[in-house]
Amino acid sequence: MIKIAPSLLSADFSQIAAQIALVESAGADYLHLDVMDGRFVPNITWGPKIIGDLRHLSKLPFDAHLMIEEPDRYVADFRKAGADIITVHVEACVHLQRVVALVRSLGAKAGVAINPSTPVEMLQDVIGDIDLVLVMSVNPGFSGQTFLPNTLKKLRAARALIDTRNPACELEVDGGVGRKNIGAVVAAGARVIVMGSSIFGAADPAGELRALRKLAEAPAGTR
Ligand code: DX5
Ligand code: ZN
Repeated sequence: MIKIAPSLLSADFSQIAAQIALVESAGADYLHLDVMDGRFVPNITWGPKIIGDLRHLSKLPFDAHLMIEEPDRYVADFRKAGADIITVHVEACVHLQRVVALVRSLGAKAGVAINPSTPVEMLQDVIGDIDLVLVMSVNPGFSGQTFLPNTLKKLRAARALIDTRNPACELEVDGGVGRKNIGAVVAAGARVIVMGSSIFGAADPAGELRALRKLAEAPAGTR
């Protein structure tokens, strides 16, 4: 089964309760929360206070994508705020194994993200210690960017690594996914699909989410 994780980065925060209710009622599986520090990525979003406030609005698992330097300093705060999955970037962690162990010790699922220019091989020695791999399909920082086609090859490599070394680990893709390529990312092995602009930018976000799920779950060749 495919999990759909709408990214609130593309939502209208003046209507955030209604926007969350909309995607939750349309069957979203996770809420994807992009945390940016203006250092690791050239954009700034929100921290634990906002996530803690949003926590009261939804029963969905909170999938926190930390695009920040030194994430180990903040993971306990994000856990306390209600994050269920905490994903850190390989590129931001000198002691990656220590960070993912810390995330798990707090009772959250540990995810590791790789940028488009980071090879899947970087996950070799940590794959047994994590619950989710996030393959970035754009350079992180903004919604609405174009999907980088090299991602498909990387998803296939990540799928093979997961299947042989840690089949329970989830494979998530993030960036530039929509109607045109959702079938391709699923065929390449992704099972958790993050989408920002293609859901919240649609005239009918709930209808769009359902349509995207249908495309994702259609048997290959019929999409
Ligand atoms: C990008 C973020 C994404 C972003 C995806 O840095 O990690 O989660 O919101 O947005 P779309 O789906 O519009 O590319
Ligand atoms: Zn993200």
